[in-house]
Amino acid sequence: MSALLEAIELHTFYGASHVLHGVTFSIEPGQTVTLMGRNGMGKTTTIRSVLGLTPPRSGEVRVNGKPVTGWPAHRIAAEGIALVPEGRGIFPSLSVRENLLVAQRPGRWTEERVLALFPRLRDRLAHLGSQLSGGEQQMLSIARALLTNPRLVILDGATEGLAPLIRQEIWAAVRRLRDEGMAALVVDKEVKTLLALGDRHLILLKGRVVFSGDTAAFRARAEENLGLLRA
Ligand SMILES: Nc1ncnc2c1ncn2[C@@H]1O[C@H](COP(=O)(O)OP(=O)(O)OP(=O)(O)O)[C@@H](O)[C@H]1O
Ligand SMILES: [Mg+2]
Repeated sequence: MSALLEAIELHTFYGASHVLHGVTFSIEPGQTVTLMGRNGMGKTTTIRSVLGLTPPRSGEVRVNGKPVTGWPAHRIAAEGIALVPEGRGIFPSLSVRENLLVAQRPGRWTEERVLALFPRLRDRLAHLGSQLSGGEQQMLSIARALLTNPRLVILDGATEGLAPLIRQEIWAAVRRLRDEGMAALVVDKEVKTLLALGDRHLILLKGRVVFSGDTAAFRARAEENLGLLRA
């Protein structure tokens, strides 16, 4: 069986600026993979590259073994990859319910199931996106991603900038997704939480993957890895 997502030797540029220098990784069905690295190391660019939002200049992306390199972003997304972007992907001028409705595609994730995952949203259905707290917006963004019924969900900054209690609620939801077998690529700065959550971990340093391995392998060189992540 082929990997759900494969990124092979991605080189990505912003204009003349060479940001990704041969990024390679893969995600198997059902796996939770974490993507770590200090600010500006290329995490968002890696995500944008695989999704075709900032297409790589060279390298290859495959979804379920199918090459999608060079495809427009909406076609790659339609292969079953949903993004919860940095800074939240919601429509501020639509209500919560409308935000959910426009995301919905057929599958096991229904409005009822995402509201069971994030009960707070149920009380806010008639509110506008812009009226939600940061944490509620992130819950709505995750709910919208799930309603597309993806094979893989990508969280770019799962809990960044949110209050501790809300962060715990979001991590609990992400753990529930993992336990249900949803594949995920998770970016965050909470290394301890990521180590407990992920099957495999990647560390980016200046656009290169400098560590890739499971939690035991991470811990076997914990000092070096934590050094790579220290601000
Ligand atoms: N639109 C852009 N134009 C030019 N350079 C960019 C652009 N977006 C990002 N960069 C640069 O590319 C590099 C990688 O940025 P990227 O946003 O991928 O980092 P990141 O790991 O996601 O950081 P953070 O943890 O702050 O989100 C940085 O040097 C950044 O300044
Ligand atoms: Mg980023």
